[in-house]
Order: sequence, then structure tokens, then C-alpha cells
Amino acid sequence: MELKRAKKLNGAIAIPGDKSISHRAIMFGAISQGTTEVTNFLQGADCLSTISCFKKMGIEIENNESQVIVHGKGLHGLKKPSSPLDVGNSGTTTRLLSGILAGQPFSSTLDGDASIRQRPMKRIISPLTLMGADISSKKGNNCAPLIFHPSSLKGIRYDSPVASAQVKSCILLAGLYAEGGTSIKEPAPSRNHTELMLRAFGAKVISGDATAGVLPNPKLQGQHIQVPGDISSAAYFIAAGLLLPNSEILIKNVGVNPTRDGILKAAYAMGAKIKKENERTVSGEPVCDLFVSSSQLKGTEIAGDMIPTLIDEIPILAVMAAFAKGTTVIRDAEELKVKESNRIDTVTVNLKRMGANVTATKDGMIIEGGTPLHCAGFDSYLDHRIAMSFAVAALALDGPSTMKNGECVNISYPTFYQDLYDLAE
Ligand code: S3P
Repeated sequence: MELKRAKKLNGAIAIPGDKSISHRAIMFGAISQGTTEVTNFLQGADCLSTISCFKKMGIEIENNESQVIVHGKGLHGLKKPSSPLDVGNSGTTTRLLSGILAGQPFSSTLDGDASIRQRPMKRIISPLTLMGADISSKKGNNCAPLIFHPSSLKGIRYDSPVASAQVKSCILLAGLYAEGGTSIKEPAPSRNHTELMLRAFGAKVISGDATAGVLPNPKLQGQHIQVPGDISSAAYFIAAGLLLPNSEILIKNVGVNPTRDGILKAAYAMGAKIKKENERTVSGEPVCDLFVSSSQLKGTEIAGDMIPTLIDEIPILAVMAAFAKGTTVIRDAEELKVKESNRIDTVTVNLKRMGANVTATKDGMIIEGGTPLHCAGFDSYLDHRIAMSFAVAALALDGPSTMKNGECVNISYPTFYQDLYDLAE
């Protein structure tokens, strides 16, 4: 597809619902008593995969676009699915659902697309096996398809080698079905939506800086969840507003949970002008509007405990770095290699196509900003965040760029191009 250029961006936009929170609202609603109403649910393909998996396990879910109603059946109310559960492209569905499936009194198989079949699942197979789960990888390669058989679980204290909210949430969800308490310690704090929302549904959850734990067998009760806008989706508009001269945009309803707001901290360090307005709390999550004005960006360092708070925003930060003055160093981000694509490779190759000076490293990349940039033929490698990042870059390049497989934005942001080009002048 052809990507558009723009002179500047102007106007206001309300960002669609948060992907992580939308998944969790469906899952926790399904294993609670009574109904859960979810407003501003993200109608992206990943979250729709979660809905279809729970429907296959006997949960009635009404999807009315603006509102989703989940008719929960309680912790022990799921039914054996009659065919494999299809998670599509969704890592969150795969790993969180695995925690739930490990505790069920029925066998099940979980499978997904070609990308999911390559993503590492040992990170959940190991702790679930320690809990007593009967989980195996069908092909013996520690990837999906995953097969679950009934077994009784016991709580563990798990020292996780990776800071991953998907791993943490998987273990906590299995912990609901275990005998005794379950806890997990991470090398750095990952996003805490599971802890916040499970507690709201009635679970006994303890949480510290990089630790979380649950007690088993809670009485979960359906809730009304208003999903905040996804800061990971807002990131593309933040970047576009900063990069295009004379732009001023208001990005409304953005979730700014401190375990997710690394993009703002990195952008401020790069000299970004972003004002937080109308700060409030929505369904237990901090939310605000962001007023973004074009800014001359400078290079920065992105590393350490900050990485989990902006892991999905590194592709767009790398694009910002290419337009910035000076050097940006991204370290400690090896996790980029196991996302929807190997994002060290897919970011680097696309940046080079537009003339940027970038060097891939073992755990990140080094970008020398300020080289002359030009329009290019980009490839999303079927990774939604790569497609959106380089569509933003294309706005500021000197001629028409193209994107191969750009439609994969439907994973997390089906109306992305329309929303972006509506603001363009
Ligand atoms: C997610 C956690 C992150 C993130 C993913 C969504 C979640 O993955 O990259 O897009 O909803 O828990 P990891 O926890 O594996 O880093």
C-alpha cells in the first residue's frame, strides 16, 4: 500500500481501547460470576481471538462494538472446547489463556498463526510444569501448538528470568486454580494490569515493586470495565505530532499507568513538548489527555528497568531517533527478538531503507540521528507495530513511500490509517 506524506498534523483524536486491558476484561469476566460489561473494548483481531476462545469454552459473549457483555460462569464454569483454541497472532491470548487452561479438569489444545508457532513458550511451560501442570508442546519445540491435560496444581514461588507481564499473568491465573499461594518475582517490574484488575474482580492479590502473588479459589464477581485508550497506539500519534513541523494535536483518553508510560519519559528525555491534561482514574487505571506540539528531538539512552515500560514502543522510538539530533542507544531489549517479528532486525532493515544510520546490537540498536532521510519501500513483516511506526516515518519523508502487508495494523488498531490521515494537512 502507498503511505501518505503530510506537512503537519492538527486536531484531536480519541485512542481506541488498550489491548492488554481488553484481553484481561474478557478473560476475567469469563471466570467470574455474573456479567461483566466492557466499554471502549479494542475491536482488534487479537482481542477478538480472545473472545472466540472463550466462546468455544461455553461463555456467552455479546459484542455490540461500543460495549461487550461477558456472561461469566465462575472460576470452574468453562467447558471443554470441541476443537483447538485458535489464538491467531496473539501472544497475550496464548500465554494468559495457558495459565487458565492448566487449571481446567478437561484436555485442550491451543494453536495460532505462523508467527505464534515460532514464539517461545518455554517461559510459561517451565513454571506451569513446576506447578504440576500437564502441558506439552506438540512438536517438542517449546512453541505452539500446546496441549493441556487435567492435573492438580500447587502454588509456587517463582523467580522469573524475564520481565514479562504475559509470563507473570499466566502464573497468577494458574495460581487461582492451585493449592496454596502463588507468587512471582521479576528482574524488573512489568505492566501490572492483571494485578489491578484481578483485585477489582475480588481476588486476593499482593503486589510489590517487581513481585506479585495470588491466593487460590477466590469468588470472582463480574465488573464494569471502562477500557482506557492504549498508550501503545497513542505512541504513533505522539511521534507524528512531534516530528512534523507546526503540528499541535490533542490525544484524548490515554492510559498512563506508570508501568506503561516509558514512551513519555523517553520522549521528554529527547526534548518532546507533551502536556498532560485532565488527569483522572478510570476503572482503577490512571488516564489523561496528551497535548503534543512539534519539537526538535535529540538522542537519548533507553535501557535498564525502563525497557519493560516501553517495550512495544521501541520501534516508534527508533523512528523518532532517526529524525533526532545526535545518538540514541537502546540496550537491554533482547525481548525485541521474540515479539510479532524480530524487532531488532525488522526495525533496523526498515530504518536503513529510509537512509538512517543504524547498527543492530545483541540487545538493541544504536541510531545516529540527523542523516539525510528519503522515502522508501517498507515491509511490515506482518508485524502491526512495524507497519504503524514506518507509516509515521513516511509522513515526514520526501516522497511517496510504500508498505508491504500494511493491513496487519488490524491486530491492534483497525482504523489506524484513517485516524492518522484524518489529522494530516
Ligand atoms: C503484554 C505484555 C508485553 C507486550 C504485549 C502485551 C500483555 O509482552 O509486549 O504486547 O498484555 O501482558 P511481554 O509481557 O511478554 O513483554
